[in-house]
Amino acid sequence: MDRELALNIVRVTEAAALGCAKYLGRGDKEIADQAAVDGMRGMFQVLDINGTVVIGEGEMDEAPMLYIGEKIGTCAPGTPEIDIAVDPLDGTNLCAKGLPNALAVVAVAPKGCLLHAPDMYMEKIAAGPKGVGVIDITKPLDVNIFNLAKSLGKDVTEITVTMLDRPRHQKYIDIARRVGARVKLFGDGDVATAIATCFDDSGVDLLIGKGGAPEGVIAAAALKCLGGEFQGRLVPENDIETKRCIEMIGDNWNKVLTMEDLAKGDDVIFAATGVSDGELLKGVRYYANKQARTYSVVTRSKSGTIRFIDTIHTFDKKPKYAY
Ligand code: FBP
Repeated sequence: MDRELALNIVRVTEAAALGCAKYLGRGDKEIADQAAVDGMRGMFQVLDINGTVVIGEGEMDEAPMLYIGEKIGTCAPGTPEIDIAVDPLDGTNLCAKGLPNALAVVAVAPKGCLLHAPDMYMEKIAAGPKGVGVIDITKPLDVNIFNLAKSLGKDVTEITVTMLDRPRHQKYIDIARRVGARVKLFGDGDVATAIATCFDDSGVDLLIGKGGAPEGVIAAAALKCLGGEFQGRLVPENDIETKRCIEMIGDNWNKVLTMEDLAKGDDVIFAATGVSDGELLKGVRYYANKQARTYSVVTRSKSGTIRFIDTIHTFDKKPKYAY
């Protein structure tokens, strides 16, 4: 994929963030999500790519836009065939309540390189670069904490384990506390938190627990670019979901999904734009004279470059941004 695509993908996440940011704290997550989808799709449509949504807003019959299988881009002859994984607003509740860490995110890779994950839960473990070859989703949490602490050169009491604040994670909270690790619970948005493990000053070292499988693919793509480690395992909750796993992944659907299974190869691009303020990115700011500022990150697995992009948008000159 052309490296210039990375900048265009940032335009897409910026458009999604600008789309939904006006709905921050207004208590309606559906409207916020739809605005993010509209913004993202509008920008995607003008890109010279031949894209297919592999992770999107749901199946064609349940999502009017950015549905799985939807063709994206101009699709002109000769344009690159790419897989697209989108979450126009990760943290719809966070946005609706005006809470931190809502993000617009996109991952792209050449056709066939992003896993078509079913919309169900995935058990996840993620850490930054020092977790590569160290963390292991098949091992108990206490073992992972000890091994990561050793690799990071930290005491166990200096390790922060983070997870979604859900009753299903009580077992992890108990283990982490028993071994003396710090625990940080968050309400929503496990893509942002997986990414945070890759940055020393984010204050979190290890993500554990069950969250959405589509978000897992996007997080894996991000961590591949950032040099971190991510592993997942699908967790179907009934026979219908198990059938779906078999259809989409095959008979070995319950194996450990490595980063290579989730985001294959060395040509992955990930971009995110902050909607609300977060640990890594600030949220959208509105200025006088119909201007707004966005804060984004874009990274490519090929180069390992992590680029933070700070953009001022002038709505008068770009009316399609003026949601
Ligand atoms: P939405 O933006 O779709 O609301 O997802 C937010 C999220 O927190 C994800 O980041 C996470 O993977 C998933 O929901 C967790 O699901 P649940 O709320 O069912 O525990």
